[in-house]
Amino acid sequence: MEASLTARDRVGIQDFVLLDTYTSETAFLDNLRKRFHENLIYTYIGTLLVSVNPYKELDIYSKKQMDTYMGVNFFELPPHIYALADNAFRTMMSEFNNHFILISGESGAGKTEASKKILQFYAVSCPSTKVLNNVRDRLLLSNPVLEAFGNAKTLKNDNSSRFGKYMDIQFDHQGGAVGGHILSYLLEKSRVVHQNHGERNFHIFYQLVEGGEEDLLRWLGLERNCKHYRYLVQGKCAKVSSINDKSDWKTVRKALSVIDLSESDIENLFGIIASVLHMGNIKFEADARGYATLNNNQEMQWVSKLLGIPNQVLQQGLTHRKIEAKSEEVFSPFSVDHAVYARDALAKAIYGRTFSWLVNKINESLANMDSSRKTVIGLLDIYGFEVFSVNSFEQFCINYCNEKLQQLFIELTLKSEQEEYEMEGIEWEPVPYFNNKIICDLVEEKFRGIISLLDEECLRPGEATDLTFLEKMEDKIGGHPHFVTHKLADQKTRKTLERGDFRLLHYAGEVTYCVVGFLDKNNDLLYRNGKEVMRQSKNAIIKHCFPSTEPDSKRRPETVVTQFKNSLVGLTEILMMKEPWYVRCIKPNEAKQPGHFDDVLVRHQVKYLGLMEHLRVRRAGFAYRRKYEIFLQRYKPLCPDTWPNWKGTAAEGVRCLIKHLGYKSDEYKMGRTKIFIRHPRTLFATEDAFQVCKHKLATRIQAKYKGYKVKGNYVKQREAATKIETCWRGLMARRERQRRAWAVKVIKKFIKGFMNRHQPACTDNSEYLAYVRHSYLTRLKENLPKTVLEKDSWLTPPPILQEVSQVLKKIYIRHMVRKYVLGITPQRKAQVQSVTSALFKGKKENYPFSVCRPFADTRISGPPQYSVPVVKYDRNGFRPRLRQLIFTQEAAYLVEEAKIKQWIDYSSLKGVSVSNLSDNFLILHVTCDDSKQKGDLVLQCDFLFEALTKLSVIANKQNCIHVVQGSVRFDIQPGREGFVDFKSGQESMVYRAKNGHLMVVSL
Ligand SMILES: Nc1ncnc2c1ncn2[C@@H]1O[C@H](COP(=O)(O)OP(=O)(O)O)[C@@H](O)[C@H]1O
Ligand SMILES: [Mg+2]
Repeated sequence: MEASLTARDRVGIQDFVLLDTYTSETAFLDNLRKRFHENLIYTYIGTLLVSVNPYKELDIYSKKQMDTYMGVNFFELPPHIYALADNAFRTMMSEFNNHFILISGESGAGKTEASKKILQFYAVSCPSTKVLNNVRDRLLLSNPVLEAFGNAKTLKNDNSSRFGKYMDIQFDHQGGAVGGHILSYLLEKSRVVHQNHGERNFHIFYQLVEGGEEDLLRWLGLERNCKHYRYLVQGKCAKVSSINDKSDWKTVRKALSVIDLSESDIENLFGIIASVLHMGNIKFEADARGYATLNNNQEMQWVSKLLGIPNQVLQQGLTHRKIEAKSEEVFSPFSVDHAVYARDALAKAIYGRTFSWLVNKINESLANMDSSRKTVIGLLDIYGFEVFSVNSFEQFCINYCNEKLQQLFIELTLKSEQEEYEMEGIEWEPVPYFNNKIICDLVEEKFRGIISLLDEECLRPGEATDLTFLEKMEDKIGGHPHFVTHKLADQKTRKTLERGDFRLLHYAGEVTYCVVGFLDKNNDLLYRNGKEVMRQSKNAIIKHCFPSTEPDSKRRPETVVTQFKNSLVGLTEILMMKEPWYVRCIKPNEAKQPGHFDDVLVRHQVKYLGLMEHLRVRRAGFAYRRKYEIFLQRYKPLCPDTWPNWKGTAAEGVRCLIKHLGYKSDEYKMGRTKIFIRHPRTLFATEDAFQVCKHKLATRIQAKYKGYKVKGNYVKQREAATKIETCWRGLMARRERQRRAWAVKVIKKFIKGFMNRHQPACTDNSEYLAYVRHSYLTRLKENLPKTVLEKDSWLTPPPILQEVSQVLKKIYIRHMVRKYVLGITPQRKAQVQSVTSALFKGKKENYPFSVCRPFADTRISGPPQYSVPVVKYDRNGFRPRLRQLIFTQEAAYLVEEAKIKQWIDYSSLKGVSVSNLSDNFLILHVTCDDSKQKGDLVLQCDFLFEALTKLSVIANKQNCIHVVQGSVRFDIQPGREGFVDFKSGQESMVYRAKNGHLMVVSL
């Protein structure tokens, strides 16, 4: 970064933090634009990465680029997504903690591409083995599958993700990617049955119809024509030039088998996709009383076949509602409108649940079987703020999600800034910023928030409609500064609002929502018998998705928005436990065109992505901070005291340097390890001075060695240097000549000896033969057989030593046999003669080694009563190690292979702690004053209950097992304590938390 400070006029500034006018949106935009036109799409704000979609392929993602960014300091190279990925990875490896990368931006800004780039970087840069490559392929291939089922063409993006995605990549302690886990959020199911003009349904439908093999289509009853299917043509753009459904189909088909889907799973899956298409074509007719009827519809038969549900049952389910009156069940017929509604609801439910099933399947294939410690990097690719001309329930959820993430972002950014100041011992000055908590509360507060009001309206008996919901909001939150409706607005605002609209003043700007459909979408009502019908399916996926244990409609399921709210709470929890990194994506224009930078559009995004806000926080105190060593290394030529070498500490050097440069006391602060500079101009002045100085230095050095303008001393010095150099070189050359002459002689003699090696001893070969003898005997000494069994491995002698070697061999074998016979015990005799040899000789490779190792009755005092494999965590650093835990009558032993690593007499066992959660950890506490003891044992055991029961019976220690909540203290050694913290979460993990405790998260 420093290296490019010089190029700032041409390429703008690589880090916005160095922008002098950092509060000016125009200056911010100018910098972004300048860089964009030079194809520099990445810019930092500190460690946050701003990325502008180039809408063209740039040559910056090659393997060579990846190599360049691997293991390099963040600020040494131009900004890049690889730099961020690499830094997150390296911090994780060195600090053993968990991280997440939050990628945000509006639809089409490049979030999904960014997350793919990060994944590809890890796939290339992480250590690999055959097993890990397998995991890597699955991680990479889960993408096209999820995109096929969860992405669609919208007006904003031809490959728009219609679900939120959080993906954990799990690494072992060597940095290998060992597993992954995906959480998905709120799939936009309404797209299955309806698409706006210019938009498409999910890709998979078109891929199947366009790319599916003839046989498959025949089996599914499909025609190769998208126009034939109602659910595919409402947007009137089944074909899109940028999308090749045929080749995408091939990719997806292949990926499905790599992620472990069986052929029957795949068959069932496509059966479902096809049945949704058939379902869309089902038509209802009204009978004389206006009720919906189905006249032996062909589409119906296909659905029935593919889902494995009797036709009659399916027909009844689509045309009737089941009502329970006291103990009786009555079927009430649907009107045609109702039937269409029920059909669409069923299609949405089938698709939505199948999508969740698929995510689970992918997770199973990515699961890391090894429960020992791992650290993770999470990738969050979630929908950004969405503002359309008409905004509905989906936009409300999406924008609420962004409010929550902004909350988290503010909290974490401010916190990390504050922590850095604290760590460096610099006073924290409060930063003024807009806290969007007020909007989050407006949406989610219990009883009073919009979500509560919406749920109340959905659940209450009586005639609730979208309009009564609007009235309720007006009544309850009418006075809120961030909420307005047609009725509440002043005259001017009222003109911009329809009667059924409400407007929220989000932190990113105003969004007007049309209230129509809110209740319906929130209820996501699937008539009860719809579910019951699905339960009869023979299609294994549908069967799994509609389990018979699902609570019936007597207990209402949670509404969509409440489920979403809860999943966001879960997400926040996951993220709060990790270190954040941010990528903010920006869309340069609406036309998806390369090279076009739409100022108004970008300005809007800069605003709502909170970039100015973030910059303000980062710049609140100081624009620039660097470790003393790095700063001194670069700028030391600027001060005679620090150039060429500074003898003291780096901090003192920097102090001396800036004193010389005349920094004023309010322009900088000295932290513990870093210098903080308040204004970029101070840094730029220093950098400019450095450039001038560098030039001067270079000229001086050149002049000195060319000897042009120098006289006197310099000339003499140069002459002396040349003289000394000449003498020294002469001496070295003479020595070399002598060495070579000697070598020639030796080699000649050796060759002559070799040629005459079969002649009787003479002067030509005597030295050579002596060498051969000596060499053989020495090698023989080092390679003598170790046991009688190895007697055939005698070193082959050279011809002149054949006889000697025979004699030596005989003597040596006799010696070995005598030694063996004398040393053998009666047990050994038995062992060799009978059982063991019958069992293993010639069958198991390492049997010969066992022969020379006597068997013992036991290797520990007293026979073992119980033994179980465990993972032991080091008291310092918590590295996991595989061990065997053995209980004898007197003591517990921790054993590695045949070595006892630690033993605990039951008399010094103070107690055993386990948590109340579902993990499998146990901590053995030992008495400190026993000097033989090393400290407490932190263990993980898959057979926890069995092991503890055995221990309590054998050691008679029923009273010493404690079930604890939260945290367990243990002794690292007498006087030094450590902690294991237990909590439950969304995924099970074991890692070293920020506070140095071992964190055990269980499901
Ligand atoms: N770094 C990039 N280089 C080249 N093209 C990109 C890049 N990022 C995005 N794009 C283009 O923009 C399109 C939309 O990007 P995508 O990541 O799907 O957006 P989002 O996930 O934010 O909605 C991509 O299909 C691709 O054509
Ligand atoms: Mg996307």
